[in-house]
Amino acid sequence: MTVVGARPNFMKAAPIIRALRDFNNSFAMAGEADSGQLPPEGLQHILVHTGQHYDSRMSGAFLSDLGLPAPDINLSVGSGSHATQTAEIMKKFEEVLLRERPEILVVVGDVNSTLACALVGAKVSFDARGTRPLIAHVEAGLRSFDRTMPEEINRVLTDQLSDLLFVTEESGLRNLAAEGVPEEKVHFVGNTMIDSLLDCIERAETSGILRRLGLECMTPTNGAASSVSPYSLLTLHRPANVDCREAFLDILEGLEELAQQCPVIFAAHPRTWRRIQEFGFERYFASNGSDGGARAIRVIEPLGYLEFLCLMKHAMLVVTDSGGIQEETTCLGVPCVTVRQNTERPVTVEIGTNILAGTAKEGIAAAIRNRPKPGRRTPPKWDGKAAERIVDVLIKTDRKPASSLSLPLLETYA
Ligand code: UD1
Repeated sequence: MTVVGARPNFMKAAPIIRALRDFNNSFAMAGEADSGQLPPEGLQHILVHTGQHYDSRMSGAFLSDLGLPAPDINLSVGSGSHATQTAEIMKKFEEVLLRERPEILVVVGDVNSTLACALVGAKVSFDARGTRPLIAHVEAGLRSFDRTMPEEINRVLTDQLSDLLFVTEESGLRNLAAEGVPEEKVHFVGNTMIDSLLDCIERAETSGILRRLGLECMTPTNGAASSVSPYSLLTLHRPANVDCREAFLDILEGLEELAQQCPVIFAAHPRTWRRIQEFGFERYFASNGSDGGARAIRVIEPLGYLEFLCLMKHAMLVVTDSGGIQEETTCLGVPCVTVRQNTERPVTVEIGTNILAGTAKEGIAAAIRNRPKPGRRTPPKWDGKAAERIVDVLIKTDRKPASSLSLPLLETYA
C-alpha cells in the first residue's frame, strides 16, 4: 500500500508504482515464483490518497500528468490545523489498514499525511500477535535541524517509526546513523522525484506553457518559435514566508531588482494567493495575462507538473522556498536561490546549483546577484533508477505472512 496526500508526494510515488507494475509484468512472464511468498500475479498494490491536497491544480492534474492511476481509496480529509488534519487522516487511515491489511506500507516525503499514516501503521495490530505492516519511508534521513518546520518533525518521527528507510542523498545516511537508526534498515537508493523528472522532461517540452505565457520569441519571417526569452521563476508557500505580512513583503522587496531585469513568473500556491489578497499585495504584481512591461512579478495559478517542469527547465533562475524544487533545479542545471535559512537537502548546495539566501531582502537581492552558474551536476544515484532499487528491496524483504485483501477498493471514506 502506498500513501500520497499532498502535491510533492505524487512525483515521488509515481515511479514506485510504475516499477511495481513492471516487476509484476516480468514476474508473470517469467512464470516462476522465485521471490519468496509472492502469489503468481506478483505484488498487489493499493494506492491511498489522504486528500490533504484536494484542488485539481494541486492534486488531480498531477496524477494525470504523472500517469498515476486513480487512487483506490480517497480519505478526502482536506485542510485543517496540523492537529486536526493529522488526526483526521489517522482516524480514517486506521479503518483502511484494518480492512486491507497490507504487508508493506510505503509513505513518501515529509508532509502531514506521511507522518499520520506511518504512526497508524506502527501501532496497528491485525491480530493477537500484533502483526502490522512493514513501514517503508521514501526520502528518509533529510534534516534541516530546524524544529520550527512542521516538515522536520514529520521527517524525524517518520524515520523513527520506519522499518525500511530509503535515502536520497548521502547526508541522509549520516543523519540516520547519528540518530541511532540501525544500518540494516537503511538503503541509499537515489531520488524518485528525479526518476519522475527524467521520465517526464521530454513530454514537458510539449506542454505549451511557454507560448501560453508569451515567453517564446518568434522569428520575424515565418512566426515559428525560435527561442525562449529570459525569465525567472518564483514559488513561495512556506507559512513562515507568506503567512506573516512583514516577512512576505520583505521577500517581495528582495526580488525588486530581479524584476527590473526580467519577467518573474510567480506560480502561487492557494495559500499564497489567499495571503496576497488578504494583505492587499496585488499592487506588487502584474495581472495575469499582462507582462507589466516585462518588468514585474507576474503571479499565476499553480501549474500542472509538466508545465512547471518546462518552466523550470528554461528559466534563467529559480527563486523558491520549496524543498523539492532545490533538487529538480540541481538535476536540470538551473541556478536556484532558496529563500530559507537552512536546507534539508545540502547536496544541492554542495554541488553548487543552489544557494541559501535567508529571508531578509538584502540577503535575497545579494544571493540573486551572486547566483550559481548554470550547469548540470548530478548527485550520486540521481539516475532515474531509484524506484527500481526500492522495489528490489521490497521484493527481497522478509515480509510478514500474507494477509487477505478485501475488494472492492474503489471507495471514498468521505
Ligand atoms: C503541504 C506540506 C508542505 C509542502 C506543501 C506543498 C505539510 C505540513 N506541509 O503544505 O511540506 O511543501 O504541501 O504544496 O504537510 N489548500 C488549498 N487547496 C489544496 C490544498 C491546500 O486551497 O488543495 C490551502 C488550504 O487553505 C490549506 C492551506 O492551503 O489550509 C495549506 O494546506 P496544507 O496541506 O495544510 O499545507 P501546505 O501549505 O499545502
